[in-house]
Amino acid sequence: MAVKVSCGALRASDDGTIAELRGWVNRRRDHGGLIFVDLRDHEGLTQIVFDPQHPSFREAEHLRHEDVLRVVGTVRKRPAGTENARLGTGDVEVGVSELEILNRSQVPPFPVNADEAVDENLRLEYRYLDLRRPRMQENIRVRHRIVKAMRDFFDERGFVEIETPMLIKSTPEGARDYIVPSRLYPGSFYALPQSPQMLKQILMIAGFGKYMQIARCMRDEDQRADRQPEFTQLDVEMSFATQDEVLETMESCMRYVWQKVLGIEVPAFPRLAHAEAIARYGVDKPDLRFGLELADVSQVFARSEFGVFRSAIDAGGAVVALRYPGGSALSRRDFDGLTETAKQFGAKGMVWASLASDGIKSSVAKYLREADLSAAANALGAQTGDALLLFADARKLAYAVAGKMRNVVGERCGLVDPQTYAFCWVTDFPYLEIDEQTGQPAPAHHPFSAPAPGDWELITSDPLQMRAQHYDLVLNGYELGSGSIRIHKAAQQREIFEMLGLRPGEIEDRFGFFLRALDYGAPPHGGMALGIDRIAMIACSEENLRDVIAFPKNQVARDVMMDAPSSVAPELLRELHVKSDSRG
Ligand code: AMO
Repeated sequence: MAVKVSCGALRASDDGTIAELRGWVNRRRDHGGLIFVDLRDHEGLTQIVFDPQHPSFREAEHLRHEDVLRVVGTVRKRPAGTENARLGTGDVEVGVSELEILNRSQVPPFPVNADEAVDENLRLEYRYLDLRRPRMQENIRVRHRIVKAMRDFFDERGFVEIETPMLIKSTPEGARDYIVPSRLYPGSFYALPQSPQMLKQILMIAGFGKYMQIARCMRDEDQRADRQPEFTQLDVEMSFATQDEVLETMESCMRYVWQKVLGIEVPAFPRLAHAEAIARYGVDKPDLRFGLELADVSQVFARSEFGVFRSAIDAGGAVVALRYPGGSALSRRDFDGLTETAKQFGAKGMVWASLASDGIKSSVAKYLREADLSAAANALGAQTGDALLLFADARKLAYAVAGKMRNVVGERCGLVDPQTYAFCWVTDFPYLEIDEQTGQPAPAHHPFSAPAPGDWELITSDPLQMRAQHYDLVLNGYELGSGSIRIHKAAQQREIFEMLGLRPGEIEDRFGFFLRALDYGAPPHGGMALGIDRIAMIACSEENLRDVIAFPKNQVARDVMMDAPSSVAPELLRELHVKSDSRG
């Protein structure tokens, strides 16, 4: 009797047994009068062998990559010297006695049995073939294990997973909503959730205490390698929790996930206040896999004759310095290239100084005193052989550019080890930031975060100085997630909406239901959401979210496999009371 086994199951100890396997033709080789096929399923590969004496041989001659087979045969040890140590099944092969072709495959548009580079849109168009490839099989499985570990962790701690609806009213998370027209209510629309934020807070009001959800979110925003229009969050909310308790919960969860999925024990996560993160690393999501801390060298150049530095400093700006380890070996062209990169990050320019063994060389040697450059080098702990990169501008911009250049330098100097996982917390964010598009103050997080204790008074006097009880989790320079302690009193929530310039009618229209809910004994609460796609991307050492999502949108937000978005029948639009004006 044949035993049905997977393509990853057979071992030398199965020698002599009769096995039945199903799978795809991964590779076919004809030699020595025999035909060898590597049969592949989701568990592995098994070598099957067709003998010319056997009737199935004729059919095997016509087998092509990705044909689907059922075979029965005798398991036997491979001849000595032909074992394949890289395969679990590499000690054995199956001599086929019965072949059934379950299905044929067209010639795939790219090789499925290897991870060689293929145009991404072709991969996405034939995603089912791309997903068969080893790397994507592994990534999607790692993602499953991450989500399972998260669910296990929270279940163990008494959290309840609760699904929240997809068709809702707009929740402000700073992106554009995807909207769905209502057939029953002409001219009215549902919004797809940018996050379950208000609903999870309402679940706290509803008495659930500890909530989690693996939640799908939709945001119509510009695409980047770490953004997708549709993505998944680990969404968490806890009643009566302090900020420390939320951080402890999320940190323990991530350490559990890393231990379960990658077998890595990560140390406790360092905490940085937002202002400290900016001062040391220039960005609010610092990559802590390497040092290269920035230095404010405005004082050093306060009396400099160099007009660019002087005017930036006199206007209240700053000169921020970054060390380039070993940078004195760079050519003028290299420095020109770095200057171009800095300009792309918004810098007006970049000054470099090279600490060569025969003295300091600089792009503006004429204007800068060697003593000042030495002082700047000391501030950075730079040594002979290094270079300094200097950015003078409005303080915020100078830090932002230096912070981004720090990442570039870290990468170029090989300081960015993909196998190192440097988590950190960033806390004490400002409540408001100036929105780049509108120039108006907008919440750095969202309008449900509570101001820092003691900062409420600033709401009327100096709102831009208010800090929030808002925290971010950062890993290797990526923002993994954000959360906050929430406002739980209706009057205070109303005050925040008013500070943001919402009129009473607008407040009632958009948030009336939420304010009423807060008025029925809302408990103090707080929570957080982590981006699962980003977590999976880093855990899989990938650089694009699309490589850890089974069916992602492409760079221009299209599903190229299904061809969406696409037009719909005019009758459907009529039923929905929608007129399309595709001229835009
Ligand atoms: P926030 O908007 O910061 O917070 O989102 C939390 C995390 O979700 C991930 N994320 C994304 N991932 C992929 N593509 C996107 N377009 C995208 N947008 C966000 C990021 C991000 O850090 N409701 C709050 C959380 C809370 O306060 O509890 C929220 O959604 O990893």
